[in-house]
Amino acid sequence: DALQQQLDDLQDFQVIAHRGASGHAPEQTLPALELAHEMGVDYLELDIQMTADGELVAFHDESLDRATDGEGELKDFTLEELKALDAGSWFNQASPEYADDAFAGERILTLGEVIERFGTSARYYLETKSPELYPGIEEALVEELEAHGLIEAGAAVIQSFSQPSLLEVQALNDEVPLVQLVWYYPEEDGEERLVEWTGVTQGPSEIEDADFAAIRDYAVGIGTNLTYEDELQVIDAGFVEQAQANDLLVHVYTINEEDDMQLLLDWGVDGIFTDFPDRLNALVE
Ligand code: G3P
Ligand code: CA
Repeated sequence: DALQQQLDDLQDFQVIAHRGASGHAPEQTLPALELAHEMGVDYLELDIQMTADGELVAFHDESLDRATDGEGELKDFTLEELKALDAGSWFNQASPEYADDAFAGERILTLGEVIERFGTSARYYLETKSPELYPGIEEALVEELEAHGLIEAGAAVIQSFSQPSLLEVQALNDEVPLVQLVWYYPEEDGEERLVEWTGVTQGPSEIEDADFAAIRDYAVGIGTNLTYEDELQVIDAGFVEQAQANDLLVHVYTINEEDDMQLLLDWGVDGIFTDFPDRLNALVE
C-alpha cells in the first residue's frame, strides 16, 4: 500500500534539524535554515501556523512574546504585521555564545518563502501546530505542498500532536507520510501520563501492539520525547522495539546532548530532532 512505500522510503536514519539549526541561529529564520541545509540534514523541521489573513508561517509558539520583539497571539496578526517584527534579536540575548549581530531583524518566514528558497534540494518535516486554532490549515498546507510538487517528490512529512489534524491531511492527500507526535510525562504518583489532546490514549509502558497498530493505520511513525524536563526518561529501548515491531518508525525530539544521541542511536531509533545537527552528524558519520 501507499503507506508501506512511504515507510520503505524512510528506513534510513534521519537527521532532523529542529526549527532549523536552531541551536546556532534564531529558530525558523533563514540563517537557521541555511545553516541546517549546509550541514546536509535530511529534514528541515518547521512548525506551521496561520496568520489572521490566512497565510502559512513558520513559528513555534502561539504567542509572539518569546521569539520576536512583538507581543500578543500570532493568530491575531496579518502577515504584513508579522513581517514588521524582529524575530532574531531575542536569540542574541538568549544565546550569547552563538550571538551574531547579523541575526537582528531576521523576519518570520512564510512556508512559501522557505520552499521557494530550498525547493527540492531540501526535505521538509512540517508540523500542524495548534491546528484547533486554525480551521483550514490542513487544506492550505496540502495545497501549498502540492503546488510545489513536494509530496510527489517525497520531500515532505507532516507531523502533529493532533490525531484529527493528521486524519484530515490524510483525507486530503494519502501520499504524504504522517508522523503522530506524543508527549509523555510522569506524574507525582509515579503513573505515566500522556497529553490528552493527542488522540493517543496509552502511556509508554502500557501501550500495546493494538495501540501501535491503530497509529500505523494512518501514520508511518511516532515522534516522542525521550525525557521530561531534560531529566526523567519517559521511554526506553523496549518502547522503541515494540513500535518498530509494529512497523512504525520512531523519531525522538529534541535531543541536543551527545550522550542522549548516542543512547538513541544504540537503541536503533529511526530519526532524531535536534537543534544541533552538526553534533548528530558527527556521531552518525
Ligand atoms: O515536532 C517535534 C518537536 O518539535 C515537538 O515539540 O514543541 O518543539 O514542536 P515542539
Ligand atoms: Ca515541532
